[in-house]
Amino acid sequence: MTNYKSVFGFTKEPFTQEIRTEELYMTGGLKAATERFLFAISIGAVSVITGEVGAGKSTALRYGVSKLHPSLYRVITVVASTGSCLEILRQICMGLDVECKSLSIAVLLKTIRGIITEIAQKKQIPVLVIDEAQLMRLEVFAQLHTLGQFEMDSKPILPIILSGQNNLIDKLMYYTSKPLSSRVVGRSHLEGLKSKDMSEYLKHHLEIAGIREQLFSDEAILAIHQGSGGLLRRANILAKTSLIAAATEKCHMVSAEHVRIASSEII
Ligand SMILES: Nc1ncnc2c1ncn2[C@@H]1O[C@H](COP(=O)(O)OP(=O)(O)OP(=O)(O)O)[C@@H](O)[C@H]1O
Ligand SMILES: [Mg+2]
Repeated sequence: MTNYKSVFGFTKEPFTQEIRTEELYMTGGLKAATERFLFAISIGAVSVITGEVGAGKSTALRYGVSKLHPSLYRVITVVASTGSCLEILRQICMGLDVECKSLSIAVLLKTIRGIITEIAQKKQIPVLVIDEAQLMRLEVFAQLHTLGQFEMDSKPILPIILSGQNNLIDKLMYYTSKPLSSRVVGRSHLEGLKSKDMSEYLKHHLEIAGIREQLFSDEAILAIHQGSGGLLRRANILAKTSLIAAATEKCHMVSAEHVRIASSEII
């Protein structure tokens, strides 16, 4: 395969998954989600981020967390599964670096509450961040709010950020999820990029990888926007595959035809 990186003169791999938080492209959605994320944390509430597959939800979580100074916040990140309450509580224990082999939900809850209290006593704010939350069973939604609740004290001290695909909202609307959903103070939905922003987005990724000029023709940008619906992961894959198609033909500009070739390679 043609070494597309040297054809175009990239100094780094372009359009990577592992983009650093300092290098993110600031979309309106990312800005709004971060503001709500930080507000919910500041008042010990719950914030929800939804969006289509590849819209940038996990990246938005990563960005939000990067704004929390580690000396002031203790962030517990969990990627949810379809498992039982017991499993998610064990994952939270792992996130807190505690081993808890108990099979009792009550014991796990007590352990977690104990550590949360210790964190709060050290003047740190614990924050629970759950990605792929749409996978969680309804019984987990029903239980989750009790994590930050302490006997005889109605003031919750555990802000929770939930992120997931759109059906996360359906699960939160279910009546057994009400105690949790009633604490939601900020809801963000990440949309695909608008067509006018796609050019800047692609240029931004090229710049991070060492290229200052636009390598995508206007028609190619339109084709990438149409083929991805503005969703970032798909746009990245189309952009990178079409760069390879252009390099194979020794072209220094990506055309709509290169994007068409790229589209036929992906599902
Ligand atoms: N603000 C941004 N700036 C630049 N690139 C971004 C940004 N947000 C997301 N991306 C790119 O898009 C890719 C997909 O984003 P991400 O994995 O966050 O989507 P997701 O919504 O969590 O997807 P899934 O539904 O599959 O979990 C990232 O790997 C990253 O390369
Ligand atoms: Mg994700």
